[in-house]
Formats: sequence, C-alpha cells, structure tokens
Amino acid sequence: MPLRAIAGAGLRLIMVGGKGGVGKTTCASAIALGLAEAGRRVLLVSSDPAPSLSDIYECDIGGAETRILPDLPLWGLEISSDLVLAKWKERFGREIHAVISSFADVDYDFVDYVGTAPGIEEEYMLYFIRELTKDGKYDVVVWDTAPAGHTLRLLRLPRLFLSHLEGATKFYMNMYSMVERVKDTVRLQSSKKTLLQVIASWRELSEGIIGFIGEQTTTRYVLVTIPEALGVRLTERVMAELAGNGIEVGDLIINHIVKEADCEFHRTRQKMQQRYVRSLEETYAGINIAKLYLSPYEIKGVERIREIAKALFA
Ligand SMILES: Nc1ncnc2c1ncn2[C@@H]1O[C@H](COP(=O)(O)OP(=O)(O)O)[C@@H](O)[C@H]1O
Ligand SMILES: [Mg+2]
Repeated sequence: MPLRAIAGAGLRLIMVGGKGGVGKTTCASAIALGLAEAGRRVLLVSSDPAPSLSDIYECDIGGAETRILPDLPLWGLEISSDLVLAKWKERFGREIHAVISSFADVDYDFVDYVGTAPGIEEEYMLYFIRELTKDGKYDVVVWDTAPAGHTLRLLRLPRLFLSHLEGATKFYMNMYSMVERVKDTVRLQSSKKTLLQVIASWRELSEGIIGFIGEQTTTRYVLVTIPEALGVRLTERVMAELAGNGIEVGDLIINHIVKEADCEFHRTRQKMQQRYVRSLEETYAGINIAKLYLSPYEIKGVERIREIAKALFA
C-alpha cells in the first residue's frame, strides 16, 4: 500500500527514520515534494549531521528556512548542533541563569557550560521541531532524522529530562528551606516567575514534547529499511524501542528492491531480497508497507525525486 494516510490525514509532523544509507533523505524529500504538490505548505527538515537536503535538491539550504522551489510551497532547513544550541540558549539561557544565580554566584557564561551537558542538544531538537510545527507557517513538517540509534536516544530524552527535573526541584526546595526557609515566594531576578514556577514550566515542556511525539493524529513515524538481514534486524529493534517510548510506526518503506531481474546477478539478488520482503510483510502485517524499487539513476534533482514521490503515493 502506498503512503495514502500521510497525504490525507491532518498530520503536522512526519518523522522519517531508519539506519544510515537506506534512503531516509530520499524518502523524506519525496514525501515533502508529494505533499507540496498536493497543495500543502511543507517544511523539510534534516537533523542529520551530514547535511544532505542541499545535495538532493541541488540548491543551497542550510540553517535558515529556505524556499526550495519557486512554484511549490516547499521549504527546507538543515539543522546543525550550533543552530540548536543557539536556539536553546535563546529560549532557556535567561531562565537557567536566573535559577542558578538565585543560590550561587555565577556569571552568564555559566549557561554555555550547562549547554554542553549531554542530552541538551537532543532534548532541544525535539522542542525546536515542535515549535516549527506550531507556528502556523507550515501545514506539515517532514523530518529527515539522523540515523536510528541517535534518534532513539533522542526520543528517550524527554523522559530522562523529566525525572532529572523532579529530582532537581526537590533538591532546590531543600536548599531553600535550609538556607532561607522560603519555598515558593522568592521571585527570580530578571524573571517574574518564582524558582518553582520556572522549574514547573520546564517540566510542562517535557511533558508537552512527549505528548506531541506520541500523538498519532498529528505525528506519524515512517521507517525506511532495505530487504537484507541487517535491515530486517534493525527494523525489529527500532520498532520495539519506539513502541517502548510510546511511538507506533505508521508506515514501513522497503527500499532498494530489484524490480526486473534479467541477469544472474540480479536474479540472485532478487531471490535474496524476496525472502526478507516476505519476512517483513509477515512480521508487520498490521503496519502499512510501501515498496520502493531500486532506480538505475542517481536520485538528485526535482524530476527524480518526483518519480520517487509518485511511487510512494501512487
Ligand atoms: N530507490 C532508490 N534507487 C536508487 N538509489 C537510491 C534509492 N534510494 C536511495 N538511493 C540512493 O542511496 C543513497 C543513500 O540514500 P539516502 O536517502 O541518502 O540515505 P540515508 O538518508 O538513509 O542515509 C543515495 O545516493 C540515494 O540517491
Ligand atoms: Mg540522509
């Protein structure tokens, strides 16, 4: 079955995942183009550290939202670590400084130090993507994610962040009752909120992100794989891990399938692939599966991407 559900539903975010090299960027680009051609305003975002949207669309995209094609409502954005950290600082810098300087004498550079903590970048990436879906500029955001392991870690983070904050709240409260015997009355310098209100707002944010990523009416996860042993094994792992994080895979794309085998090499390859395609179809009978044939051409430029889009949405 092609990806009809994606075209029809009121989705705001489509996450495209899978292991490196299986065709995530190709499929995300094609999905974005297909949706833009159907009249939706689409932002195609890549968070892969190796930027690739510029290559496939043969234009300069980079760290600012850039219109990809003049006659289609399609924009692109390549998110780098630097961009994410700069945005994170914009959003949290003042609050973090206010919270910490309410009990310790630190200058603003301390915020940079907090920003290097493990997990901050991934945590904020999700927030940033959610903001992009919320501000009304786009009907739908198509997210070409970083390779699977990285993305899974990213999806686990809001939960970790949440439990960390709960511990931190108690810690700060104890500190306050010991030192000043006040709890929620101290207003932070440079912020109208109290310490606990700021911490509570961070918690709300994490909960909001968890809810948003797991909400199937607005967020859909498309997993790309290839019909080989490694692809099948990784699909199992990713499916299980996603399910453990409250995320159901909406569509599975099996890419690189040999369509016509007219020589010994391709016959052998096709036979090998058929076994894995069957196995995937049996294991994931409840999930929509789309098949994508291996093209003899390099997928670059709008015309080639359009062919992939046609195959995916046909
Ligand atoms: N169906 C296909 N037919 C031909 N080439 C493909 C196909 N899907 C992907 N490719 C090629 O495979 C390479 C890896 O694809 P890419 O989308 O960059 O993978 P990923 O983003 O998962 O690393 C690219 O050179 C791309 O053009
Ligand atoms: Mg890629």
